[in-house]
Amino acid sequence: MSILLASTDFWEDMEVWSNGLQEVMPEMDVRVYPDEGDVNDVEYAVVWKHPRGILKKYPNLKAILSLGAGVDHIISDPELPEGLPIVRLVDKKLTHEMCLHALHWVLHFHSDQYLYRIQQQSREWIQQSSVQSEDRTIGIMGLGNIGKAIGDSLVNLDFNVIGWGARPKHSLGNIEYYCGHEQLSDFLSQTEILINVLPLTENTKNILSKIELAFLPKGSFIINIGRGGIINESDLLTALDSGHITATALDVFAQEPLPENNSLWVHPSVYVTPHIAGQSNPGSAARTIADNIRLIEKGESPYPIYSHSSGY
Ligand code: GLV
Repeated sequence: MSILLASTDFWEDMEVWSNGLQEVMPEMDVRVYPDEGDVNDVEYAVVWKHPRGILKKYPNLKAILSLGAGVDHIISDPELPEGLPIVRLVDKKLTHEMCLHALHWVLHFHSDQYLYRIQQQSREWIQQSSVQSEDRTIGIMGLGNIGKAIGDSLVNLDFNVIGWGARPKHSLGNIEYYCGHEQLSDFLSQTEILINVLPLTENTKNILSKIELAFLPKGSFIINIGRGGIINESDLLTALDSGHITATALDVFAQEPLPENNSLWVHPSVYVTPHIAGQSNPGSAARTIADNIRLIEKGESPYPIYSHSSGY
């Protein structure tokens, strides 16, 4: 019985992952693609951007587990074997990292740090009047585990937090929730700092284009740590150029790595990070993945499973 690790992305250090998984699952034989051994032995595939088409080679595969929170890198494989559970990664450390990253940019924009940096370059001593956190509305798109955790940490800092998602939700505490396309403009028109954590699906692709960006109040900010394809990048550049959006922090892009000739690299109001907001932690993620594999071995359901109908 073996677990196959497969990735095409350099930031995934496969040896560290393989050692981490082997340590928590001594009963399994952990292999790294392409050294898979006998294809009949492979029962679980643990992947991040795996080489397209390889998963159909393993006749005894029982499940595909993601090394990251999103599974768009799995379901975009046109030759994915059908009928297997695809398991997302919900991991405390990853969620915590995403919260810290979001918080960093919220505070950067909320407390005018982006302006003080510009002022320093021209040696200008101008004290901007500060806005109280309770007077600042932060809108979060995507209220799953990560979005809710970010929302709660901002509520704890007294920000006014609202959220938007495609489906009705219960018990979001102090986060006022807007649901579905009919409430998107209400949500956006109040949002001064927008944090996107939505997964990329057929329904969310380019959900923030020209019209939706125009609903945001003039002078608002955008932090994207979900997926690049959610925001139409050329509409975003237009909104930045016109000053409608003051600045944006982007960790994810329609094309990654961000091509060298992409204007986002050099726009003065764009902060680029290379998809590092929530790097999976091999220690804690290996335990979560092992727990899910053991549930499947016991005939129980792993958590959370990708749902074809909702697209995530
Ligand atoms: C990172 O983007 C992830 O899906 O965890």
